[in-house]
Amino acid sequence: MNGEKVLVTGCNGFIGSHLTLQLLHAGYQVVGLDILPPTEALNIQSISNNSNFKYLSGDVTDKALIDSVIDASYSKVFHLAARVGIERYMENPIDVVRTNVVGTLNVLEAAIRHNCYLFFSSTSEVYGKNPNVPWAEDDDRVLGSTSFERWSYSSSKSAAEHAVRGAFKQQNLKGCIVRFFNIYGPGQSEAFVVSRNILLAAKGQPLIMHNSGTQTRCFTYIDDAVTACIKLVEEAKTNGEVFNVGTNTEHTVQEVLNAIIEVSGKSLTIESVDTANNFGDAFEDIMRRVPQVSKIYEAIGWKATTNLHDGLYKTYQWAVNQKG
Ligand SMILES: NC(=O)c1ccc[n+]([C@@H]2O[C@H](COP(=O)([O-])OP(=O)(O)OC[C@H]3O[C@@H](n4cnc5c(N)ncnc54)[C@H](O)[C@@H]3O)[C@@H](O)[C@H]2O)c1
Repeated sequence: MNGEKVLVTGCNGFIGSHLTLQLLHAGYQVVGLDILPPTEALNIQSISNNSNFKYLSGDVTDKALIDSVIDASYSKVFHLAARVGIERYMENPIDVVRTNVVGTLNVLEAAIRHNCYLFFSSTSEVYGKNPNVPWAEDDDRVLGSTSFERWSYSSSKSAAEHAVRGAFKQQNLKGCIVRFFNIYGPGQSEAFVVSRNILLAAKGQPLIMHNSGTQTRCFTYIDDAVTACIKLVEEAKTNGEVFNVGTNTEHTVQEVLNAIIEVSGKSLTIESVDTANNFGDAFEDIMRRVPQVSKIYEAIGWKATTNLHDGLYKTYQWAVNQKG
């Protein structure tokens, strides 16, 4: 990896910033591109003076810009830039589709032209509400009607996956696709269940539980997820494949909130909020979201090693140091 030059789109986001730091640590030269400057919440600010890192401000939907940025000097492009988060896809589905589809096509076409390996970050949301968990990579997508904005994110990532897979098959582009399952850790925006509630706990405020709290998720600590990403791109036999990146240890949301309270050592209450009040009945919460993890284990020997308590503890230490 000595000196190998790579591009990370979405470098100032939660996963992109951790990935950038681990890539630098592993000896890569990283150029990071993002539409937004780094926020104080992210540790990427600490590397602004690192000579192996360069930040470019830019929008992946700007084709001329992407064409001018991506060239044959990059061995790999990690494409993480995306519109993420329930509020965004409920409020602005046009922007979700534009960023996730048009932005990905721009990056993909430039990667094909210059023969750059492409890592594409997709999501467990592509499986939708398929009730047959755990989900293997070739399992069905089960989505609701396009009348419900909630599905715009899943649909946009699925469309982008089709384009990327097409390039793997028809253009001999090298690369892989990952579907992340509920990654959490320091630096995540407070739109997500763990980060929102850890930040509330750090301030001593009541936690917020959406719906009954009986919905389950498989939470994966950020360092584990980023390790998987780097191992995947460094192993030739992952080429052209799609992988779930997550754990198969299921926790109810209620259990996670109780664990956050335990880690905080405080006596905190939990307030229940009905998503129908925020988003209307069209918001269909997914009751169970569980990956099959055998494909990635067989390919690169990876499985997540951070248990929920340890991951929450590290995230809580970050949260107590946040201002505001
Ligand atoms: N965090 C998770 O659990 C999770 C789960 C499934 C999939 N993912 C995927 O992983 C990737 C990273 O997610 P994240 O959690 O770090 O989200 P994030 O919102 O923290 O990061 C996304 C980054 O992309 C940038 N961005 C958005 N639009 C852009 C544009 N038009 N041009 C350039 N940059 C733009 C944002 O400014 C942000 O820094 C995304 O592709 C997301 O779909 C994440």
